[in-house]
Amino acid sequence: MRLGMIGFGSIGGALADLLLPGEPLEHLAVLVRPGRAAELRQRLDGEFAAVARDRSVVADAEGMRAARPDLVVECAGHAAVAAHVPPLLAAGIPVVVASVGALADPGLEAALRGAAAAGGTRLVLPAGAVGGVDLLAALGGTKGLEVRYRGTKPPGAWAGTPAADILDLAALAAPAVFFTGSAREAARDYPKNANVAATLALAGAGFEATRVELVADPAAPGNVHEYSVASPVASYAIRIENRPSAGNARTSAATVLSLLREIRNFRGPVAV
Ligand SMILES: NC(=O)c1ccc[n+]([C@@H]2O[C@H](COP(=O)([O-])OP(=O)(O)OC[C@H]3O[C@@H](n4cnc5c(N)ncnc54)[C@H](O)[C@@H]3O)[C@@H](O)[C@H]2O)c1
Repeated sequence: MRLGMIGFGSIGGALADLLLPGEPLEHLAVLVRPGRAAELRQRLDGEFAAVARDRSVVADAEGMRAARPDLVVECAGHAAVAAHVPPLLAAGIPVVVASVGALADPGLEAALRGAAAAGGTRLVLPAGAVGGVDLLAALGGTKGLEVRYRGTKPPGAWAGTPAADILDLAALAAPAVFFTGSAREAARDYPKNANVAATLALAGAGFEATRVELVADPAAPGNVHEYSVASPVASYAIRIENRPSAGNARTSAATVLSLLREIRNFRGPVAV
């Protein structure tokens, strides 16, 4: 398999680590920002040499297209989705997007859907840090679907967000709800924490109808995602306690495994 990756931060590095022990890829191409190429080239030819028989570093979507990947995995951020993913989809290359929150921008969502249709390929939205998305997506579009999501993180994980203006994060002694609104509003106000709310919204009831609560809790065991689904077809509630990945407190290790799952499903004879 020829794999492309956009971004090589904490998710990208952890994903490459997970790919190391398996059957080597035929080719791995990584798209990085200007100024990062030489350093990454060294890492790919050193600690990550066993990931793929051949490896390259590219600077833009054109370079990625020239590397002829069978599948591209984005793990870079919202701006990278906007800049690089539409042209790759339009060229017929399927792309798995980790930065699902980027689709809260209706213009970008339309551009991505249009590019995938024009290229005759698919934009794949992985479950990421959350679970149960299979059933929610099956219920998506059915009548009477109600989805409520509550995202809880330790106070420090909300530093640098508007939560810091609402709460004294360092002094918090009990759980505090600092945001209640739609998934669209949550993505607007908390873009770096919007991926799970956006994934649930896109799978289920949409950005406007999906209700979101964000919570800072000094006793949170990590990043906790809870949501409930009520519908005439099926109702369920789910709670996922994620542990942060080694390199980045904002990223759950389960997210990396979810991207690996998408690669495995694409590569292997059975998709599950
Ligand atoms: N779907 C989910 O559940 C979920 C969960 C966690 C994180 N994410 C998303 O995944 C993305 C990556 O997360 P991370 O923890 O690896 O972040 P990170 O900051 O550790 O790494 C991002 C990397 O991408 C690079 N990058 C940024 N913009 C780029 C661009 N325009 N072109 C090429 N490279 C670029 C950065 O230099 C950095 O190396 C984030 O957008 C994050 O929101 C999704």
